[in-house]
Formats: sequence, C-alpha cells, structure tokens
Amino acid sequence: MNRPVMEGLRLNVPAYVKHTRLVAWVAEIAALTEASEVYWCDGTEEEYRRFTDQLVEAGTLRKLNPELRPDSFLARSDPSDVARVEDRTYICSAQRDDAGPTNNWMAPAEMRSLLQTGENALFRGAMKGRTLYVVPFSMGPLGSHIAHIGIELTDSPYVAVSMRVMTRMGRQVFDVLGEDGAFVPCVHTVGAPLAAGQADVPWPCNTTKYIVHYPETREIWSYGSGYGGNALLGKKCFALRIASTMGRDQGWLAEHMLVLGVTSPEGRKFHVAAAFPSACGKTNFSMLVPPAAFGGWKVTTIGDDIAWIKPHADGRLYAINPEAGYFGVAPGTNYHTNPNCMDSLRRDVIFTNVALTDDGDIWWEGMSDTPPAHLIDWQGKDWTPEIAKATGAKAAHPNARFTVAAIHNPVLDAEWDNPNGVPIDAFIFGGRRSTTVPLVTEARDWTEGVYMAATMGSETTAAAAGQQGVVRRDPFAMLPFAGYNMSDYFQHWLDLGAKLQASGAKLPKIYCVNWFRKGADGKFVWPGYGDNMRVLHWILGRVDGKAAGAEHVFGTSPGYDDLHWEGLDFSRAQYDSVSSIDQPAWQQEMKLHDELFRQLAHHLPVALDETRQRIEAKLAA
Ligand code: GTP
Ligand code: SPV
Ligand code: MN
Repeated sequence: MNRPVMEGLRLNVPAYVKHTRLVAWVAEIAALTEASEVYWCDGTEEEYRRFTDQLVEAGTLRKLNPELRPDSFLARSDPSDVARVEDRTYICSAQRDDAGPTNNWMAPAEMRSLLQTGENALFRGAMKGRTLYVVPFSMGPLGSHIAHIGIELTDSPYVAVSMRVMTRMGRQVFDVLGEDGAFVPCVHTVGAPLAAGQADVPWPCNTTKYIVHYPETREIWSYGSGYGGNALLGKKCFALRIASTMGRDQGWLAEHMLVLGVTSPEGRKFHVAAAFPSACGKTNFSMLVPPAAFGGWKVTTIGDDIAWIKPHADGRLYAINPEAGYFGVAPGTNYHTNPNCMDSLRRDVIFTNVALTDDGDIWWEGMSDTPPAHLIDWQGKDWTPEIAKATGAKAAHPNARFTVAAIHNPVLDAEWDNPNGVPIDAFIFGGRRSTTVPLVTEARDWTEGVYMAATMGSETTAAAAGQQGVVRRDPFAMLPFAGYNMSDYFQHWLDLGAKLQASGAKLPKIYCVNWFRKGADGKFVWPGYGDNMRVLHWILGRVDGKAAGAEHVFGTSPGYDDLHWEGLDFSRAQYDSVSSIDQPAWQQEMKLHDELFRQLAHHLPVALDETRQRIEAKLAA
C-alpha cells in the first residue's frame, strides 16, 4: 500500500473524492503499472463525447454516418481479441476445492507473483505511455440497498466509454462511497505499454491474457484483452463471478439470466427469469414481440444478460438487472427476429466487429436477406457477396456486438430500475441442442428443476474463443461464470429453495426449453423468436394452474393440443419432431449427466444424484 507514486506522476484526485483507501489503491496501481497519467472519469455526457472524439482520432472508433446512425461508432478489434477467453480465466480462491473442477485455479500467492509482485510481473510497467482511467460504477441503481460498487482502473478509453453505457458510471458513485464505503477493485490493462515516441495501434492488446478473480478479497485483475467480458469488468467478472460468491455467503443468487415482464390482455403481470448460454437467445427472448394471435399480450425487458435475485420478506424471489446497457450479439438480429432490438440500435451505439457499408452505416450476416453489393468487413478488408461465396469470409465477426444503453429499448419495463426488483413467477433454462431435448418441459418440483438446470447441455458458440458447435454441459448457463465450486452452487440453489418452502412461500416453477432442434434438412424446425411466445404462454398457463400437460420420465410437457397455434402453420408431425423424447437418445444423454456428476462428485448434492438414478431407472423400465 505504501509504494510511492512515481516521481512526477500526479494523481489528480478530484476534490469530491474523500475515500483515502481508494486514493491509496489508485496510487499503488499507478506506480505498479507506471501509467503516465491518471484521469478520474466523471461520467458526464461532455466527457463521453471527448473520449469518443479522442478514440476517433486514435483510429479505434470510426464515426458512422450521422444521418443514418446518429452518434454511433464502429470499432474493429484486433483479430486475435474477439471473444471471452475461458481457458485464460482463473478463480484464485485460497483453496482449490472452492474453485472446483470447472474453473481454472492457481494459488493466490502464485498468481499475485505472476501479475503483481514477481520480478517480471505482467502488470509492472504495463501502462507505460498510457493514461490510467479511474472508472467508478454501480451495478444496480445508485445508492440502492441491492447495488454494489466497483472501481475499474483501465488503460483503455474504449473500456471507459463502454462502461458508461453498460453501468451507472460517474462521480455520483463517490458520493455513495463516502470516506470508507466498500467497492470491488477491478484492475484492467490491455498489456501494451508504449515506449517514448512509440505510435499506438487502433486496438492494443497482448497475446498473453489473464482474467483473474480473487473471491476472498473480491478483487479482479484482467490483462491483455480489450474485448467484452474480458475487459468490461462490471459484467461477467463482477456481476457474475464475484457476485455469485457474495450471493453464496449472503443468501442470494447472481445468475446468467434475462428478466422479462409479460402482461396478459386482462392486465395480469408476470415476471420470468431465463438462463440460456452465451449467444443462445437471451437478448432476443427479453424483447420478444408476441405474434398477432396473442393480441393484448405484451413483453417488456428488465434485463438481457444478468440477474441478481434475492428472497424478500414476503417469501418470494425478486430480481434486478445490475446492468444499465446491452452488450448484445449483432449477427442474426433483424426486423423479423428482434424488431425491438433493431429499434434500440437507431442511435447512440458503439458497434464492434460488424461490417461497414459504403454509405457509412453497419451491416452483419442476417441483418437483411440480400447483403449489400460491397462492404468493408470487420477486419477492414473489401467484402462482396462473391468474395464471401468463394472464401466463406464473414462480413461481421460471428461474435460482433453492439453496446447500447437500456433506455433506448422501446419495450423497457417500467420497473427495470426499481431497486426492489420484480417478483419471479418462473425460471426457464435453455440450451442450444439440435437433437434430444424437447421444446419445453416443466419440472415437477424444485429439486427436479435444479437437476434440469444442472445437467443442461449446449452447443458452444462464438461468444467464447475455441471450438464451436460442440455439445458441452453448461450447468445453469453458468459454466464460464460461476465464481465458486459448481457443486456448492447447486447446493446453494437447493438450500435457497428449501428455505423459502419452509417459510410457506410458493416457489417459482422451473422449465427447460430448447428452440434449436433441427430436422433432417439441417434446418431449425421450431420457428423461434416471436413464436417462443407460444411456449411462454403455456408456461404462464401452468403457473396459473390452467394449462394442461402430460407427465413423462423427467417432467411434464404440453401435448400438441395444449399449445395455442393460431396464426402459425405447424403440423403435428413438426411438433413431434421438436418435442419427442427418444429413449435411446435419452439413455445416451444420461451417460453425459453421469459423466458430469462424476466430475463434480466432490460436494455434489445427494438429491441430484438420486434424481439422476430415478430418471435412469424409469428410462430402463
Ligand atoms: P450473450 O449476450 O452471449 O450472453 O447471449 P444471448 O443469450 O443474449 O444471445 P442472443 O439473444 O444475442 O442470441 C443470439 C443468437 O441466438 C443468434 O444467433 C440468434 O439468431 C439466435 N437465436 C435467438 N433466439 C432464437 C430462436 O428463438 N431460435 C433460433 N433458432 N435462434 C435464436
Ligand atoms: C457472454 O458471452 O455471455 C456475453 C458477452 O454476454 S461477454 O460480455 O463478452 O461475456
Ligand atoms: Mn452473457
């Protein structure tokens, strides 16, 4: 703590910052990283404009045509820095068992030596020639009992502007912190120091990457990447990995879930939280437009990626969205699949790794049926449909994303900012499975629901570096985001359910969905998107005790006649192909559940293994 600030470096602490421990920490990191300057972000619009001007000057951002896309920018990342890096992500708990078999682990002292204290520690001198930005942010409404504060120190102005869109960022945070308030310290560098006179590149980063969490001291250290969840540390690192450990200790949940409101024609309002793995449809589902046949039904967005869920005095679970913006997948988004999202993107957007049109607007695969005749692709190269046909080159990177404030969403829920959150009626879990898993299944009780979520599988997507399209277990869609031992996390869910049930509360029902079954032609059979309302409608009918279904080996699913089909031509045979339960396939599937449970044997809740055995016995019968 007492490391002297480098000679000549001024900390520039604004008069409104009264937190001595925080100032000492900034001084310490500035000294360690040898930043050439320290700048405290105030979060004002004027500052945002100054930063975006500066980023345009530096070539990191390109201003889009103000007539077509006002106040919007395009960033192109380094081609090596395009997604989360799960194999470089570490949970450095004191005990290896606390990270569990699904997380990378290193002893805290060893990691600290590598990053901070060792002779050639990576953070030493990492910000040479760069400004250290102090980014104060609140996850959750500012000053509310449910919110938590973080301070990110970063040498990336792209991160600073993105954090202003994604969180409540600015000087008001220091008022909440006062002289001694708690905050999660987040240190981020792109790992690209500049020697005197050395010219910068548009997207500095390093081939070495470390995304590190110390759950005991609630610290985050991120090295080498400027992209998304690797660098915007309020999101996955804080609001999921660190917050999940806070939730374990304090009796609440931090989940990879969208939260939506849905209002019936009679004006009855329900709230649903749904966990799908990365790039599997959360943003889409959270902004769903019901088909015309569902006249009078309305879906509104509370959150599209992360939920913090706490039990309230009335015995129900209430959810908030700790974020203030969306960092969403661009490819596949269009006026048919997600019109509300398209309308959210009309202005004030930072796009990353999408293609640039000749008139200064943006395009990505799936935005329109006919691509423009010429584009500049995400790597800055000429792109034409002919080139794409010949080489397979994508105009936009498959994990290209937009960064936009929630307030631009035309169906933003009136309660989205309510610090008390919204009461959850149902949880939905859904993977991307081209076979095996039926369209929708209701768990018969909390334990069966936790089992379904725990054993969920999904085909990997471009949201993380690595092989795509391979089925892996992704428990609760939290595989890359649980900040502690996965089996303890399952136990935490079971314990919370038992506690609420003991208090006489009605627990939310739990469902498993799959929009992604494919036919013999390799195409999705289920129309998805707005038509997912048909499944949501059945779920709400079940919540109200009105909709019928049939029990099978692992839950209850609707028959063809239990769903509302008006306005959609979907035959019994098609329904069968998305909802059938194939016995041999499920016997194979159970082997994968068994494999998962072997991996997670340490602390695995007995109730889950009993559920597995019960299902296996029924399948064999
Ligand atoms: P993260 O932000 O990575 O956590 O992901 P997300 O779950 O918010 O993903 P998003 O909603 O952006 O999903 C993007 C991908 O899912 C795109 O490829 C969409 O086309 C596809 N998708 C979303 N909903 C559906 C659906 O109902 N059916 C089908 N077939 N695809 C869908
Ligand atoms: C995800 O991968 O689940 C995301 C995008 O939401 S990122 O913030 O990059 O993790
Ligand atoms: Mn996500």
